[in-house]
Amino acid sequence: MTFETDAAGERLPNGERRRWWKEAVVYQVYPRSFADSDGDGVGDIRGIVDRVGHLDDLGVDVVWLNPVYESPQADNGYDIADYRAIDEQYGTMADWEELLDTLHDHDIRLIMDLVVNHTSDEHDWFQNALTSRDADYRDYYIWREGRDAAEVDETYDVGPDGEVPPNDWESFFGGPAWAYHEATGEWYLHLFDRKQPDLNWENPDVRDDVFEMMNWWIEKGIDGFRMDVINLVSKPEGLPSTDPEAGIRTIDRVTNGPRVHEFLGEMRDRVLDRGFLTVGEMIGDPLPGEHARRYVSPGPDGDGLSMLFHFEHVLLDRGERIWETTDWDLTDLKAVFDRWQAAFADEGWNSLYLNNHDQPRMVSRFGNDGEYRRESAKLLGTLLHTLRGTPYVYQGEELGMTNYPFESLDDFRDVGTLNPVRTALDRGVVESFDAVKEALRANSRDNARTPVQWSDEEHAGFSDAEPWISVNPNYDEVNAEAERADEDSVYHYYRRLVEFRHENDVVVYGDYDPLTPDHESLWAYTRTLGDERLFVVLNFADEATTYDAPAELVGDATLALGNYDDDDGVDETLDLRPWEARVYRTR
Ligand code: NOJ
Repeated sequence: MTFETDAAGERLPNGERRRWWKEAVVYQVYPRSFADSDGDGVGDIRGIVDRVGHLDDLGVDVVWLNPVYESPQADNGYDIADYRAIDEQYGTMADWEELLDTLHDHDIRLIMDLVVNHTSDEHDWFQNALTSRDADYRDYYIWREGRDAAEVDETYDVGPDGEVPPNDWESFFGGPAWAYHEATGEWYLHLFDRKQPDLNWENPDVRDDVFEMMNWWIEKGIDGFRMDVINLVSKPEGLPSTDPEAGIRTIDRVTNGPRVHEFLGEMRDRVLDRGFLTVGEMIGDPLPGEHARRYVSPGPDGDGLSMLFHFEHVLLDRGERIWETTDWDLTDLKAVFDRWQAAFADEGWNSLYLNNHDQPRMVSRFGNDGEYRRESAKLLGTLLHTLRGTPYVYQGEELGMTNYPFESLDDFRDVGTLNPVRTALDRGVVESFDAVKEALRANSRDNARTPVQWSDEEHAGFSDAEPWISVNPNYDEVNAEAERADEDSVYHYYRRLVEFRHENDVVVYGDYDPLTPDHESLWAYTRTLGDERLFVVLNFADEATTYDAPAELVGDATLALGNYDDDDGVDETLDLRPWEARVYRTR
């Protein structure tokens, strides 16, 4: 396997340097739900090896593999008990090595999920930390004494009588972010589940161990990392409580902490180089401000990550709680993307996604998963593959997979759905499941985690056994076999999108200029590189929409890509059909 290094990087007409990870399309594999090779109902690494042909045929360049490390699976592998071992549910280290080799043989690179804000409570470090206040690894985690209940006006049903957690932070999965450990009489911080204690990055030994572990994986030949909630690793001094009056919530307290750039800078110097694809998941404050710039800046004050995931567009329809939704419209969505496109126009780089394992299916959320499932899935794909940035395809997206029709709480598996809803039901904050059913159907992460639909056979060809989470009942219609057999499918359109990007520098490096920021249903823009220009028009509506396009763009435009199978011609007045997407080459 030989991949070009691009440390120097040839320069493009706009002066920018070529980078392989800017030109790449990343495909995300959530192993639990991808393909089950051994008939236990849970996806595994051999299942992925067996399906590398699917990825190769799609044409993607990189696989981001969600965690496969040894884990009690409290959060489907985001609770790691051993960073250097493969969970036996997923296979063995030999299987993983075979996966790496097979991908590389197909010229597909592999990036691993790096989960180092927290470990599992079953990790040896934490087990040691529990033995006493003086244990060797005690300071690998964040321990504090509780507060005197008489002195605070907060109610909790955890911890010993008369004592409340060290501060009022809430876990992202609901309830307090602290768990009491009786034997040593202190509380430990867990921003996620109580089985995911936060590591104490202030301790240099933690950083040494994390960096050493990263280098160990690099030596094995991987091509980069996706960094889980990496902007949480530095906690604010004194761990101050929230300040509701000033509008400061837990998430505001814990993101982009005072030493985060120092820690990431150290990681850059001790582990990373620009030959890797590194993408940092950055939760919280969604604005593309100074922190965002520093995370991805290659300059001396930058952390040098290749790109980041922000959440601004996937928070548009979300309330504070998982059972709350808010209204959004296309102008909001465009405004978010326009801001981020502008933020990294000269330096830094965007990652482009509309769904992943933590988000509902994009066609159900941003498209129309009924009558126009196929058209809108293709339109959304067109958007992702023609903006400036690196597109991420989440497994099943290329098949146009949709949200799942959840009927009861028993249908869900996700700790991030179950914990908060159960707590709210117990406390009477939520009256009944039915009262929140629609919102959970729209919002739950489990929508993305149902098995990939490979065929119309039983269990959608995912497994011979009952899967760990139900298959979407539409698998008889929506599945890879059917998609492959149909030239007009979402799948084949995605293949064209990937190829289009590979063949046209303007798609990767061109400047982005929005044309219709205020239009309610049209999103039109140009991409320009030297004397090459693309003109993209997307109709986000169930109705036909007319667009009076700028004359200079349509003059000698030719259609390069479109999601209706006929070419409707080009004119200053463009009549776009429902969910129609067109990409013109123009001047
Ligand atoms: C973000 C991951 O993507 C999500 O699945 C996980 O639950 C949290 N981080 C905690 O690791």
